[in-house]
Amino acid sequence: PDRMSMAGHEHAHAGDTAASQSVSVAELTGPRTGTPDRSFTLEAKKTTMTLPSGEKKEAWTYNGQLPGPELRVKQGDLVEVTLINTDIDAGVTIHWHGVDVPNAEDGVAGMTQDAVMPQEKYVYRFIAEQAGTNWYHSHQQSSKQVQMGLYGVFIVEPDTTLPRQTADLAVVLHDWQAENGTSVSLGQLNRLQRKTAEPGTLVRLRLVNAGNSRAPIYISGVPFQVAAIDGTDIHEPADLSDSRLELAAGGRTDVTFVMPDTAVGLSRQTGPFVQDGNVLVISPSNGGMPPDAVKGSVFDPASYGTPMRTKFGPGTRYDRNYKLVFDNRLGFYNGTFTFVQTINGRVFPDAPMFKVREGDLVKMSFANRGFDDHPMHLHGHHIQVLSRNGKAVAGSPWIADTLNVAPGETYEVAFVADNPGIWMDHCHNLDHAAVGMSAHLVYE
Ligand code: C2O
Ligand code: CU
Repeated sequence: PDRMSMAGHEHAHAGDTAASQSVSVAELTGPRTGTPDRSFTLEAKKTTMTLPSGEKKEAWTYNGQLPGPELRVKQGDLVEVTLINTDIDAGVTIHWHGVDVPNAEDGVAGMTQDAVMPQEKYVYRFIAEQAGTNWYHSHQQSSKQVQMGLYGVFIVEPDTTLPRQTADLAVVLHDWQAENGTSVSLGQLNRLQRKTAEPGTLVRLRLVNAGNSRAPIYISGVPFQVAAIDGTDIHEPADLSDSRLELAAGGRTDVTFVMPDTAVGLSRQTGPFVQDGNVLVISPSNGGMPPDAVKGSVFDPASYGTPMRTKFGPGTRYDRNYKLVFDNRLGFYNGTFTFVQTINGRVFPDAPMFKVREGDLVKMSFANRGFDDHPMHLHGHHIQVLSRNGKAVAGSPWIADTLNVAPGETYEVAFVADNPGIWMDHCHNLDHAAVGMSAHLVYE
C-alpha cells in the first residue's frame, strides 16, 4: 500500500519531466504483484562504531552494519526490499547501483521518488535480470550518506548451480571519513580479514569500490583472471599475474583463481602483508602469509580477453551522438565559492539533458580536461566502451556502468536506450557530483 501511494507521485513527476506519454506505467515500475522470491528489510539508522584507535564515531547504516547486509539473490528472482528509515533526519533511499531496474525502483531522491523520512517506509520491487556484482546505497545527499556508511553489496548469482567447492566472497573498499577529516579504510577498520579456502577451491572475489577515489588492488601469491567488470562477464579471460587492478570509484571487478597450496593476499598497497593496512588474506587451513604485494603493471580492460561481435561495430549508425567534456573551475555553488566540477562547462541542474527515444543507439564521447579522475556512472543502462584515446578496444567487449575517465583521457562509449524514464548520469566521486557534476538522460 505504501508503494502504491508513492507510485502515483513518481509517475506524475517522471511524466512532467520526461514527457514520456508513449511509455506505459508498467515499463517504469517493477512488478506490483506476485510473491517475491527473496525479500529483505533494510533499516536505515544511526549507529556507533569503534575505530581501531578505540575512538567511537557515529555511522549511518543499514541494519546497524557497516557495510550494510550483503544481499544475495538468484538471476530471475523477484526481489522485494522494504526500506525503513528510523532516524536519518534528511531522509534516505536505496539506489541499486549496477542493476538496470525500472525507473521507479531506481531510488533517486527528488527524481524517481521522495526521500523516505524518519518513521516512513518504502518498498522496492524488481526482477534481478542480470547476474553480477552490484551494490546499493542511499541516493539522498549521497556524498554525505555514503561516506557515513549507507551502502552494501547486492549480488545476483547466476541461475546455474556453481561448481562445487566455490568460495564466493565480496570485498568492499570504502574510506570512512571520520569527523576530524582523517579517513580510515574499511580494511583498517576490520584489521586484517582472514578467510580459509582449501587448495583446489575455485575462489571468486567480488571487489566493490564504495569510496570516492580510484583504488589500486594488488593480488599476490596466485595467477588470477578478471572474470567480470561492473557485473558483466569478460569473454574468455586470460591468466594474469603481478597485475595491479585499478578499481573505479563505484565500480566492481570480479577476480577468480584456483586456490594454491599457499596463502593468497589482496592488498591496497605494495609490500609485506601486515596486521593492519591490507585487505584480505586467504589461506589453506594450515595458515601462512602471502608473498609481498608487488607493483606490477596496470590491468587494462581495453586489451583483455577475446573479442566477440556486439551490437556496436565500425559501421553502426547512431541515432544520437553526445559529447561530454569534464572540467573544473572556480565558481559559486550552493552559496559557496569553490571548485565546481562541470559537464560541458555547466553545473547541475543546468548541466545538459541527454535526450533519447526508446530503441535509440546512443554514442557518447567523454573528454576529461580537468585534473581529477571522473568515474562516470550512468543509471539504468550499461555502456560498451568503444575506444580510449582514439584507440579501439581490442579485447573482450568492455561493458561498464561506472567508467573512470582519468585527466587527459578521451573515451567513446555506446549503449542501447532500452530502459525508459529519467536517469542520472553523474560522477561517482560523490564529492564531485555534489559540486555540479551531474546530468540527466531523459527519454522523450
Ligand atoms: Cu552509485 Cu547515482 O549512484
Ligand atoms: Cu568527478
